[in-house]
Amino acid sequence: MNKNIVILISGGGSNMAAIVRTAQQEHWEQRYGARVAAVISNKADAQGLVFARSHGIATEALDHKAFDSRDAFDAALAARIDRYQPALVVLAGFMRILTPAFVQRYAGRLINIHPSLLPAFTGLHTHQRAIDAGCKFAGVTVHQVTAELDVGPILDQAVVPVLPGDTADALAARVLAQEHTIYPRAVRALLQAL
Ligand code: GAR
Repeated sequence: MNKNIVILISGGGSNMAAIVRTAQQEHWEQRYGARVAAVISNKADAQGLVFARSHGIATEALDHKAFDSRDAFDAALAARIDRYQPALVVLAGFMRILTPAFVQRYAGRLINIHPSLLPAFTGLHTHQRAIDAGCKFAGVTVHQVTAELDVGPILDQAVVPVLPGDTADALAARVLAQEHTIYPRAVRALLQAL
């Protein structure tokens, strides 16, 4: 059985790296027939591509600015993704809103990580908004992607405290450390169920 994972990133790719490292450490290929087949970015200079290449993973960059419309970009992106016949498409800091057609194409095998305790704080600037709202706890959610932004069924969550005097950056770092635990865990759970 060949369960290809395609990971989409836009930047640092630390969640992608956490998944790649966990896959190696836990021998996902032998255990689940699963491997990270490709990492695709909408930014050619995304740091995460360097990590992926250095781990022998195929990488691709597809600049959304080269396309006239969201539909055209998403269609080209899907064509790239489909070359790898993915069992799972994993959004890991992929900062693009996806069209309903794209989401529908990968229905049930498209997941995202969002740095808040959904359904609170969909969208951007989640950490500052949690601080401004006086939240005592913040966190991160892994969810299935549906047509509505940041609203699909929740697969896993982790909670962190908001500490007195927290800045958005300090809170983001605390949350990110948890992301690196729960995203590989959620991917593993899906692979086991496939
Ligand atoms: C992560 O914090 C992720 O939760 C967030 O972007 C960061 C990417 O970091 N995603 C979103 O905000 C999606 N709306 P990474 O590139 O180091 O994994």
